[in-house]
Amino acid sequence: MKKTILFALIIMMVMPLAGLFAEGQKDSDAVVIGANIYSFQDGFMNAVMKPTLESYAAERGAEIQIVDSEGQQAILNNQVDIFITKGVDVLAINLVDPASAQAIIDKAKKADIPLVLFNKEAPTEVRNSVMASYDKVWYVGTDSAESGIIQGQMMVADWKARPEYDKNGDGKVQYVMLKGEPGHPDAEARTRESVKAFTDAGIGVEQLALEADPNWSVQHGADKMAAWLTSSFAKDIELVICNNDNMAFGAITAMKAAGVRLPIYSVDALEQALTHISEGELDGTVLNDGVNQAKATIDLAINAAMGKDVVEGTSWKLTSDGSKAVRVAYVGVTPANYMDFQ
Ligand code: GAL
Ligand code: CA
Repeated sequence: MKKTILFALIIMMVMPLAGLFAEGQKDSDAVVIGANIYSFQDGFMNAVMKPTLESYAAERGAEIQIVDSEGQQAILNNQVDIFITKGVDVLAINLVDPASAQAIIDKAKKADIPLVLFNKEAPTEVRNSVMASYDKVWYVGTDSAESGIIQGQMMVADWKARPEYDKNGDGKVQYVMLKGEPGHPDAEARTRESVKAFTDAGIGVEQLALEADPNWSVQHGADKMAAWLTSSFAKDIELVICNNDNMAFGAITAMKAAGVRLPIYSVDALEQALTHISEGELDGTVLNDGVNQAKATIDLAINAAMGKDVVEGTSWKLTSDGSKAVRVAYVGVTPANYMDFQ
């Protein structure tokens, strides 16, 4: 009898502890991550990155605070100061203006807090100098150029397979481009590489129009496409290149309203893009794997906060070129394989 009571007591004492370890400890020892998203208005960041940062931090037993930088670098600078004053263990920062990377790195360095930059990479000069000079800063994102290369290869393959794409039969591609944020490494590289795929394949190109939008938004895509479809060159457009899905969603709406269906390609592979592909309204997109970028950001942040090697115990690999970056691969999504991504 006595033994049974003792046993029950031990079980009662041990159970809460077991629960604690099973769920990942949410106690005062939990790593506290101070994070931001450059703008909560951004479709991809809000639909994919933010929810995964939150759920995966919880899964790993860390505490994360995510603030909205409202598209203003000054707001982000201030938020970083507040995080540092509060004493967070690590910063996970999505730059607003990539050119301001140094300011953020300097703040972290001065406070001796590890910093994981994600999604928007610092310019090459900053990477080579400032990032190299602080041993506790890393980058998680993609190889920006890869998305443009994959999108370009998809478009070239379709161009070759479908002679009707060349409406005026001059052997050249008359295209319009929705670029996204000027100066954003993804926007710059996608703009360059997607077009380069045509010239590399010996196909001539002619840019009819290009518009940029710091917010990569649906509204921008809709407005610009609607304007192009009533412009003097409306009849000449043979291809619509979009550097992200949201701008393509707007362009698709504008085309439908005008009763026009031009070949159109984008990047991100949001759920809605897969639906547009299944309905024959989008010809291809490129998976921007935000889930894995968010997971890598959290894994590196936790390791850095604990003073461990940042990739210890994870499946992530730092690039071998010394850029202290984890780069998640892009994948092409076409009418032939989109089902695999749903
Ligand atoms: C890109 C993404 C865009 C936009 C941008 C924000 O990687 O393709 O849709 O979210 O990041 O920085
Ligand atoms: Ca042509």
